[in-house]
Amino acid sequence: MSKSSNKQDAPGRLIGVGVGPGDPKNLTLRAIETLRTSDRVIAPCSAADLEGRAENIVRQVLPDIECHRIVFDMSQGETGVQARRRCAKEAAKDLLVMLREGLTLAFVTLGDPNVFSTFSLVAKEVADLAPEIDIRTVPGIMAFQEVASMSGLNLLDETEKLFLVTAFQGIDDVKESLQHDNAAVVIYKGGRQLAGVKEALHKAGRLEDAVVGELIGLKGERVMKLAELTDPSISYLATIISPPSRR
Ligand SMILES: C[S@@+](CC[C@H](N)C(=O)[O-])C[C@H]1O[C@@H](n2cnc3c(N)ncnc32)[C@H](O)[C@@H]1O
Repeated sequence: MSKSSNKQDAPGRLIGVGVGPGDPKNLTLRAIETLRTSDRVIAPCSAADLEGRAENIVRQVLPDIECHRIVFDMSQGETGVQARRRCAKEAAKDLLVMLREGLTLAFVTLGDPNVFSTFSLVAKEVADLAPEIDIRTVPGIMAFQEVASMSGLNLLDETEKLFLVTAFQGIDDVKESLQHDNAAVVIYKGGRQLAGVKEALHKAGRLEDAVVGELIGLKGERVMKLAELTDPSISYLATIISPPSRR
């Protein structure tokens, strides 16, 4: 019998569950408990017959779990952003059918569900269509925390600041944040802007201390000093960290 029986009167619950950047050992006990106790696990993917990264992480810990896949356009650039918004609208309608049956849905997402995540797009659409739905999140370890840990970086101390910027649509934010000597600058989505990011770090006198982590916890993982990386571009799943200048 489905776990959904007699739930029709209760409003459904949508939980964004962060599964960490890649290594299944970074799945928290709370995330595992939420996945085990939810009625359905929802996993974003690029095609219905392809397992997405978040689903793959979950499956390494909970091999028998069934995932309901939601197809998202993962292409890059402005058209990708528009397409993902359209996908989020479609996904929200799909999820609402289950939520209105009173089900609890665990939506898995890489890293943390409140930081640059597919979940927040979907959650917003669901909230707009059905404000009565209970929406929550379970935090996840973020890629930059794992990169800092793997490269032995003390990210912040005393009164230092943290900038988390993206280089998806250009590197203006990267350049601006690098002007703050007492700030650690974390750069997400910089794989295709690598040359520009490196040049900006060099001009700010910060290239030597910068590190990069690519495909953390996944096949092809690399963590190294950015200055030693010779590739012209790297994966979308790459995180660059410039620690504060502690002179
Ligand atoms: C859409 S954002 C997802 C962020 C995620 N929600 C988080 O909390 O870390 C994608 C960006 O996160 C970073 N990222 C996520 N997973 C990563 C991984 N396994 N290795 C390196 N960087 C990763 C990359 O900078 C990538 O471009």
